[in-house]
Amino acid sequence: MSVAPDAGSSKVTVPDILSRKPDSLSSSSEPNGAKQKITCITAYDYPTARLVDEAGVDILLVGDSLGMVVLGYDSTLPVTLDEMLHHVRAVRRGTQRALLVADMPYGSFHVSLDESVRNAVRLVKEGGAEAVKVEGGERRIELIARLVEAEIPVMGHVGLTPQSINAFGGFHVRGKTRDAARQVERDARAVEAAGAFAVVLESVPREVAAHVTQQLRIPTIGIGAGPDCDGQVLVFHDLVGLTEGRTPKFVRRYAHLSADISRAVSEYCSDVRSGKFPSDAESYHSATELREKIPATSSSQR
Ligand code: KIV
Repeated sequence: MSVAPDAGSSKVTVPDILSRKPDSLSSSSEPNGAKQKITCITAYDYPTARLVDEAGVDILLVGDSLGMVVLGYDSTLPVTLDEMLHHVRAVRRGTQRALLVADMPYGSFHVSLDESVRNAVRLVKEGGAEAVKVEGGERRIELIARLVEAEIPVMGHVGLTPQSINAFGGFHVRGKTRDAARQVERDARAVEAAGAFAVVLESVPREVAAHVTQQLRIPTIGIGAGPDCDGQVLVFHDLVGLTEGRTPKFVRRYAHLSADISRAVSEYCSDVRSGKFPSDAESYHSATELREKIPATSSSQR
């Protein structure tokens, strides 16, 4: 399989991501112009961004899942542009190689085109994002075209769009009927025609995602959309086992950090309570000549 670009090598750019779309006319030596699949993971803070970036992921997404995963909201709707900016800046500081994409939160692109462009510009200028992600398909044609005209690369997002939870009535798989599948395809084609460089397909049947992937010239990035997309995205906290409760069936946990963290914190509390932490080796010491001049602390002085 061709590898372009290598994980761990040069900076990932929007044209790199576009070039990862398999193309039967490609110069690749692989059959059907196969390309290496695109990897995308969410991050919301500096240490996570560093770890994920250094591990060689292609795209770091500061998703508005921030609201549910990190800020404790029960949907993504309350997330504000200022909250996004705060986290995008932190992720920017931890990211060297990956392409940094920031979600436009609910309300930041629903009032007017001018205001939407202004908000996207803030994510780029103040946050350091290299592209923005916008939920919605056919309804976003004008907006995506305006953002692209303003030199802001756009990642589309169709299928299950969590910002539409009130309209959809819940987080259900989209595209299960023939009409619904056609709508997913129309939405994906619309964002491509408007100028998006990639599109997230969320929670759609594998067969629908495979068909849409075949139809588009831009890469599809799946989440709950099966293995036939051109890339995959997962929420970092799901992937490392930091989310509580049931996760959707498409989540694969590659670590179980919740259990590790709980164990570490209980052990720390128990060691402090029993006097095992800190040890003498974990303490600073006075210079030898000063030691007898400093009275030992009696328990009544503590
Ligand atoms: O907000 C988010 O994290 C997302 C991804 C799950 C695609 O939109």
